Amino acid sequence: MAIKRSDFPEDFIFGTATAAYQIEGAVNEDGREPSIWDVFSHTPGKVKNMENGDIACDHYHRYIEDIEIMKEIGLDAYRFSISWSRVLSKGKIKNEKGLDFYNRLVDELLKNNITPFITLYHWDLPYYLYEKGGWLNPDIALYFQDYAALIFETLGDRVKNWITLNEPWCSSFLGYFMGTHAPGHKNINEAFIAAHNLLKAHGHAVKVFREIVKDGKIGITNVVSKIEPAQENEEDFQVAILVDEFVNGWFHDPVVFGKYPENAKGLLKQLGLKIPEDDMDIISQPIDFFGVNYYSRQLIKYDPYNPLMYKHVEGELPKTEMGWEIYPKGLYDMLKKLHQRYGLPLYITENGMAGPDKLINNIVNDHYRIDYLEKHFQQALLAIKNGVNLKGYFIWTLMDNFEWAEGYSKRFGIVYVDYKTQKRYLKKSALWLKEFLSK
Ligand code: FCB
Repeated sequence: MAIKRSDFPEDFIFGTATAAYQIEGAVNEDGREPSIWDVFSHTPGKVKNMENGDIACDHYHRYIEDIEIMKEIGLDAYRFSISWSRVLSKGKIKNEKGLDFYNRLVDELLKNNITPFITLYHWDLPYYLYEKGGWLNPDIALYFQDYAALIFETLGDRVKNWITLNEPWCSSFLGYFMGTHAPGHKNINEAFIAAHNLLKAHGHAVKVFREIVKDGKIGITNVVSKIEPAQENEEDFQVAILVDEFVNGWFHDPVVFGKYPENAKGLLKQLGLKIPEDDMDIISQPIDFFGVNYYSRQLIKYDPYNPLMYKHVEGELPKTEMGWEIYPKGLYDMLKKLHQRYGLPLYITENGMAGPDKLINNIVNDHYRIDYLEKHFQQALLAIKNGVNLKGYFIWTLMDNFEWAEGYSKRFGIVYVDYKTQKRYLKKSALWLKEFLSK
């Protein structure tokens, strides 16, 4: 029998997720200032086809229509992020017009009985703060604290579910080491400093949250991947354990236990890297849940020539348009693992796939996405049945949008966006979800 909503606990919520820079557009309107992603995407060679978020889905002007779509599908919740450079000028001067957009967005969601989940930081640092050192600036966590406090004060009366950071692993390692995301640095020592400052920013935000929003819940969203050795040999097996600690623990352990994972830290120090470890008491402020972004697994091979001692190997499972293997069981494994290690409530804050979507006669027949979602829903349900305190599931993403370094070439939405006309079309997966939610 096909899976249906009523198989899940009664208070389980289903939603979709988005991020400000990926959908809003209106980059020069109402006092918004540039973020690191505006500058990065306008720099030749950084984003596929030199695309950018200048217009994106024009959600800034079309949010009412977008909420109507969520309503029509029957979604319970919506996870979105705030653009820091829309609400604060020069890192500290309040921009009322920017705040007003989020006030209107929240009110419209509540009017439609859709519960807002807000992410404070989804990768779009104000460029002004980047010029002051960005995530390498020792004071950046305090700037973030002030920004967070302003948002809590403005929206905390109506919004009760909060996420400090989205995938700080990507902000630090893709942004400061691999150089594939803004700000595009390639310095491994910087990446560890950025990572630590991101964690401090998280902790400071949680601390002020408790003073301002007494009846709310707050957590952090990390990307997790099932890490598996490429081959059945001791070297791959050992390095996979380290990579697992590094990918799935570096931003979890400090938040809960106040320290970095031991083995991975030991290896990194042996490699000569400096790992900052101050302020762990701030970093480990109690949180209410972990957000889990799950897409795929990683096959790991020992590689002494790589600065981190490993490389990725291509797997044999069917892949999405991103080249990511489809591996639903990994979702179950990771939920179980997070539950056992940290014991906190969990939300899947992102899961979904990019597909070869084509609009033909106003229809997108994305049967592969239905299959993907159905299989991942089943694994989530199995996790709940096996004792995991999983409370909700957000599909990435509501509508096709600006997929960072991939520009508009990858379509992840359950709603198709025709970027020329900005017309939205519910894909078959959205109609399937609507049916699923009604049962
Ligand atoms: C996640 C990001 C999200 C989106 C998906 C595909 O890592 O948080 O913004 O790009 O990947």
